[in-house]
Amino acid sequence: MKRVITYGTYDVLHYGHINLLKRAKSLGDYLIVALSSDEFNALKNKKSYYTYEQRKKILESLRYVDLVIPEHDWEQKISDVQKYQADIFVMGDDWKGKFDFLKDYCEVIYLPRTPDVSSTQTKDYLTNNKT
Ligand code: CTP
Repeated sequence: MKRVITYGTYDVLHYGHINLLKRAKSLGDYLIVALSSDEFNALKNKKSYYTYEQRKKILESLRYVDLVIPEHDWEQKISDVQKYQADIFVMGDDWKGKFDFLKDYCEVIYLPRTPDVSSTQTKDYLTNNKT
């Protein structure tokens, strides 16, 4: 069984996320999503609209996602890959090259990002178009 792992915040889930998760799952048999905790987001000066528990529930309901684990810091990737026996690490290509150090532990694949959609863009639009 091939295991795939990917990371992200996945706030206000959109079709760019679905495209990424669908392709990630199709690379193997079991997809693990390491989801940014609210504390980790704060550390990155980001604040999600949905809480960690809400984002986790949404991701767990998707057919492509088999397991959601928390992402607490930048440093946990190597130990996650080892602990969850991931064969492939996947991220969108906005992160191209950033995680190449994982190539010592698993295959590293950057998938093309879906154009013209992001959580930030969605939240900005909703803020600026209140009726
Ligand atoms: N992603 C993608 N295409 C998009 C948006 C995101 O493929 N249009 C991918 C990212 O590359 C990442 C995963 O989805 O692998 C989770 O990304 P995340 O940062 O949570 O989503 P964004 O919409 O980019 O969020 P933000 O606007 O807050 O940066």
